Amino acid sequence: MSEQQHEGQAGYRAWLAYHPRVDSATSKEDSLRYGWIASGDRDDTVRAAISELAEGIGAMYSELPEIHVFPTDAAGENGARDPEPDTAIGVGTGILVGTFAANERLRDIFGVEVAELGREGFAIRTREGATAIGAHTPVGALYGAFHLLRLLATGADPSGLEVIERPANKLRMMNQWDNIDGSIERGYAGPSIFYKNDAIDFDPARIRDYARLLASTGINAISINNVNAHRLESRFVTEDYLPRIAELADIFRVYGIRLLLSINFAAPIEVGGLPTADPLDADVKRWWRDRAADIYAAIPDFGGFLVKADSENRPGPFTYGRGHAEGANMLAEALEEHGGLVVWRCFVYNCKQDWRDRKTDRARAAYDHFLPLDGAFHDNVVLQIKNGPMDFQVREPVSPLLGAMERTNQVVEFQITQEYTGQQRHLCYLVPQWKAVLDFETYAKGNASPVKRVVDGSVHDRALGGFAAVSNIGADANWTGHPLAQANLYGYGRLAWNPELSAEAIAEEWALQTFGASRQVTDAVVGMLMDSLDIYESYTAPLGVGWMVNPNHHYGPNVDGYEYDKWGTYHFADRDGVGVDRTVLTGTGYAGQYMGPNAGMYESLAECPDELLLFFHHVPYGHRLKSGRTVIQHIYDTHFDGARRTEELTRRWASLEGLVAADVYDAALARFHEQAEHAKEWRDRINTYFYRKSGVPDEQKRAIY
Ligand code: GCU
Repeated sequence: MSEQQHEGQAGYRAWLAYHPRVDSATSKEDSLRYGWIASGDRDDTVRAAISELAEGIGAMYSELPEIHVFPTDAAGENGARDPEPDTAIGVGTGILVGTFAANERLRDIFGVEVAELGREGFAIRTREGATAIGAHTPVGALYGAFHLLRLLATGADPSGLEVIERPANKLRMMNQWDNIDGSIERGYAGPSIFYKNDAIDFDPARIRDYARLLASTGINAISINNVNAHRLESRFVTEDYLPRIAELADIFRVYGIRLLLSINFAAPIEVGGLPTADPLDADVKRWWRDRAADIYAAIPDFGGFLVKADSENRPGPFTYGRGHAEGANMLAEALEEHGGLVVWRCFVYNCKQDWRDRKTDRARAAYDHFLPLDGAFHDNVVLQIKNGPMDFQVREPVSPLLGAMERTNQVVEFQITQEYTGQQRHLCYLVPQWKAVLDFETYAKGNASPVKRVVDGSVHDRALGGFAAVSNIGADANWTGHPLAQANLYGYGRLAWNPELSAEAIAEEWALQTFGASRQVTDAVVGMLMDSLDIYESYTAPLGVGWMVNPNHHYGPNVDGYEYDKWGTYHFADRDGVGVDRTVLTGTGYAGQYMGPNAGMYESLAECPDELLLFFHHVPYGHRLKSGRTVIQHIYDTHFDGARRTEELTRRWASLEGLVAADVYDAALARFHEQAEHAKEWRDRINTYFYRKSGVPDEQKRAIY
């Protein structure tokens, strides 16, 4: 389907829909303020900012501003004329946008305060009717333009703006898990927008629109292929594919987004024909250096390599008796002179391990593997650590590795795509979960070391850090399948820019921009989003037990179904109790990986928070929770309650009929129906299983129900 065809379709424009500011009492006055947009920058990124402003203002105020890029070239490009900026701006009624270097007037307006903006920050100020957006770099100006549009779309009063923003995190990355055959690993919104039939095959306009969406939230890096890089994807680092990849990089560059590639550690063998991929082998090193040189010849600002090694059967340095640091550093050396990064994933565990000994624990693996390597990685290596020790379950504790390495760059990895959280058939707004991770106190350095301060580099004074996340988009016209799953994509970028934003504020911003200014729609959508994680958790995974899903595709309830759980070792449910003993005293010792008071809190049955009880402790079904209920009663109650609340979600959405676009309404409604049905299946399967296991006598069953 072509871009034009998508354009009019439900949800395609997402939060860049730019609805008319009909509700605004001041819209008439406002429109006077935006009679023109001017800039002294002629760079593509500032041009993108200008065209975004023109489109947004034009749609919101039903009046297209004039565009002036000065000094006007002889050809009168864009029909522009010289606006005599020094006189017109300041008494005028428009927007001046750009870099301080190219716009003297911006320097006058902002004066000395601009120093603190850094490379990607921006300042916005309204003065005498005109609005100025200034930055040190073109991308800063672009972020400022998107910020102004967000303010206008969310109903802010534009008359007295005084904004200074800069991102909290250096690296704000999106990971695509797209495969060259057009499929997407854990993708729930149609096929890839990057690949088709074993070829790089994309509609540039669609990629550009993805870049716009990402840049509007502040994303600045993207890895464009699956971390499981197989046969053809292994060749992406060669001249067979680089010309097409460079075209993608050209599109993303305009929006301030650097392109990275996921690589196959065994590529020297599979692609290069070498007998080994040993990171200490001179030919292997040379092979990667040559690839780096080729890549940078095609893509001068290439971001670097994302690497999944020695994990889930992917090749890595272990084959050669080498460690992660040796593997990562070899690649880092190849990229160093070009300014590239190695993003090395810590999702490393032995999936074949035999858990029957009840000591080996997958949750321990990342920490056990990587902590001893602290300080061993080059400066252009950053470790990518999943938010939890397992794998993106609806409830997990925070990974104890976050913050534990003082001399190593770290990014936290989230999963926007809803693999274990309803696969974009169920509503599950994940921002509150991510917020809880970011606010988690690690005690890495006293008691002011939350995860957000670890990954922004401030706790351990690291120059590099940030966020990574697995994308949830595909070729569906509305990008994410479930129309409301767009809120997760939006929210991820916003949090990566500013982790202090609240989940609710993000939901509200998203709803206002996506659906327009109706209070009724906004309140309903925000309320549903904010309740959704709790609802989903209630009917699926009780008290920190995860994994009770069907094998391989991971959708739907199956208590013993997870493919790496041959012995029920992910929940240890037997007739006497349930949960995994991860204490130091009697269990796997995982609780001891935490710093400060966290270790004791998780170790102690009395102190461990209810919601993680079964992650850390094996308890009898009659164990009484802090809530006062027994474990078995809690499981039953929450599953019934959760399933009931999904029906309410359907009703809440149905109350918006006629208030949101009909096709968006219908698409979401169908999913809410499916969720409500599926929640009943979850409820019954989970309850029946634990019912049977716990041997609740028949006469008590009714009481429990
Ligand atoms: C999960 C997911 C896989 C993915 C892996 C990873 O295990 O199910 O599809 O490859 O995470 O993060 O590498």
